[in-house]
Amino acid sequence: MDPQKQRIRAFFDRLAPEWDAGTVRPEAVIARILDNGGVRPGVSVLDVGCGTGVLIGDYLARGAASVTGVDLSPEMLRRAEAAYPQPQVRFLLADAETDPLGGPYDCVMVYNAFPHFPHPALLLARLGAAVKPGGILSVAHGMSRATLAAHHANVPAGVSLELPEAEALATLFPADFTVTTLISDEEMYQVAARRT
Ligand SMILES: C[S@@+](CC[C@H](N)C(=O)[O-])C[C@H]1O[C@@H](n2cnc3c(N)ncnc32)[C@H](O)[C@@H]1O
Repeated sequence: MDPQKQRIRAFFDRLAPEWDAGTVRPEAVIARILDNGGVRPGVSVLDVGCGTGVLIGDYLARGAASVTGVDLSPEMLRRAEAAYPQPQVRFLLADAETDPLGGPYDCVMVYNAFPHFPHPALLLARLGAAVKPGGILSVAHGMSRATLAAHHANVPAGVSLELPEAEALATLFPADFTVTTLISDEEMYQVAARRT
């Protein structure tokens, strides 16, 4: 693993024990993100950078047929595995920019994680390839870009990049995707697109 990824892994391993206690869930925003991401009964979901699994229960509550959570941090994943032992849920300890992701999936969701990927275009190309035709790829944050930037102000260099403007992010989606959601306001950020 390259040194930058080692630093990112170590950073989130360190935060893992306190992660859930520090997590704020903007419920209405999460519901909109899941609606726009196409999460409905029967779908297969890949959650990229799932952390301790903050959205896994939401996917299950919406009747997802299967949920795969992928994360680089063993300590985050250990907590997710303990919290969600359901048979339709599985977790992959992997680098989503380089490692196999399984699939294809109906919904590929990146929630509150995109700035931690150093190669955004590469990531979107790989995630796009993991989406079924007709499925949705979503990159979302449950806060504004400005709030996120303030939140990341003290994060060590290389662990977090600036979140692009939504319009700029949309241009990075693979060519066989059509943008269906483009939101960047005071309470949330989401770019979602459907694979043709
Ligand atoms: C800010 S946390 C968000 C976790 C979760 N989505 C949430 O909202 O609580 C970002 C997560 O992305 C994971 N991550 C960072 N780089 C990754 C990579 N290359 N592949 C997979 N996961 C990664 C981190 O380990 C961390 O758990």
